[in-house]
This record gives sequence, structure tokens and C-alpha cells, in this order.
Amino acid sequence: MELTYDDTSISRLNRIGVRTGWSCLDAGAGGGSIARWLSEQVGPNGHVTATELDVSELADLGSDVIDVVQSDLRADPLPRAAFDLVHTRLVLGHIREREDVLKKLIDAVAPGGYLFLEEADWFASAGLGPQLHRDVMAAAMTSAESNGFAARWGRQLPELYRAHGLTNIVVDCNVPLHESGSPGMEWLRITFQLLNSSANPLAIAAHRFEEWQRMAGRPGEWCVGMGTIGIWAQVPDARR
Ligand SMILES: C[S@@+](CC[C@H](N)C(=O)[O-])C[C@H]1O[C@@H](n2cnc3c(N)ncnc32)[C@H](O)[C@@H]1O
Repeated sequence: MELTYDDTSISRLNRIGVRTGWSCLDAGAGGGSIARWLSEQVGPNGHVTATELDVSELADLGSDVIDVVQSDLRADPLPRAAFDLVHTRLVLGHIREREDVLKKLIDAVAPGGYLFLEEADWFASAGLGPQLHRDVMAAAMTSAESNGFAARWGRQLPELYRAHGLTNIVVDCNVPLHESGSPGMEWLRITFQLLNSSANPLAIAAHRFEEWQRMAGRPGEWCVGMGTIGIWAQVPDARR
């Protein structure tokens, strides 16, 4: 997943302009690739907090600059008005209480600081690529939504940001195109296999899913992946 999404996240962070000395929060940090990149930007006078439900993949990340904190975004408090940048990537879509968590993340941003969310939206999955791939993407989206994942949440964020009074809103959309046989396609294959063994499997004939898995592992086709909507904006001073 980091191979698919890090370049896009980093180019968005470069547009925000992360500065030395900033204090940053990466919530739901996963394997920690973005927290690590942020720590290099903020330098020794800055600080990065990486929170996760499951911190097992972050064991080696802690340093003078990075604090790793085990935390559940639904239940645990965050410091208020504390960070120059609060970032999450592909986290809120998994959390049913996502609008409450959004409010908590906004409250954690210091006046003038940035809230930067990257969330999935599968709007482009029907647009390009072999028909078999489009059918599997559509079935996977339905399965993911039945399992509680918000696959159309990214598109709601601009309105939600506005409703919370955030200013200088910038929205960016990126949809990866994976060549079959690539690591990005392998990540989709593993994710869809997991969905297919969930309580809400893919509504597609087993032989077509097997055919898609073979196609996914064989170079030669270009297939649409899961797009992300990246949205950043500032918390105004007047809000406090
Ligand atoms: C798809 S992964 C994304 C990981 C990372 N943000 C990235 O993009 O590389 C979703 C992450 O959200 C975390 N997560 C899910 N629910 C959470 C919660 N309630 N509190 C904190 N983290 C949560 C999961 O543990 C998982 O690491």
C-alpha cells in the first residue's frame, strides 16, 4: 500500500509545505512511512506523533523526534490545538464513528495549522481497464461497503471541511493505474481475497474471480486502482 500511495501523499505534503520545527500527528500511521518522512522534514527541533490501534509495525520507529502512541481514535483523547499538521491516510473510512473522529482531529490542530486527510473514493473504478477488472472492482466495492468501509467517503470531505469552518481548502484527486503483475496490483489481489473470505464476499462468479487473480499476476494489462481524495485546509484563529 505504501508503494502505491506514498508518492502521492508526499507530493501533497510538499504542496502544503511542511516546515522544520513543526509538530505533526499521523493518526492511524500503519507501517509508519509517512511519519518517518515527516520526521525528516521537521528535523530535530520538530516533533511527530504516530498513533495506531496496533503499534506492532511501528516498534522501530520511535526516536528523539517520533513518539509512537498506541491509541484508538474512537475512544482516546487527543491533545487540543497542539499540532501544526494533522494527517491521516485511509483510516477514517474504516471507522464507523468517522464524523466524530473528524471533529476530534480538527480540535487537535493548532490555530493556523493544517488538517490533511486522504480518503478512498472508488468513483473511478468503472472508468478504465479490462471489463473483468471493472467487474471485480465493482464487486469489491460493494463487499467493502457491506463490511462497513466507506468507499465513497472522500467525496464528502470538501463539504464537511466547509461545515466545520476550515479555510483555504485544497482538494486533490489521484487514481493509480496499476500494471498487472506489479506490487500495487498484488496489494489489490490480497485485499480482495480477504474481502472474498469475509462475511460479505464478492458477488461475482468464482471462476471469474479466479480468472481475475491470474490476470492480476501476469504483466500486460493496465487496471484502475483505488483512488484517493486528498484534502487539506487550515484551522482559523477565530475558531477558538
Ligand atoms: C489502510 S490502513 C492505513 C495505514 C496508514 N495510514 C497508511 O496509509 O499507510 C488503516 C489503518 O488504520 C488503523 N485504524 C483503524 N481503526 C483505527 C482506530 N479506531 N484508531 C486508530 N487507528 C485505527 C488500522 O490499524 C490501520 O493501520
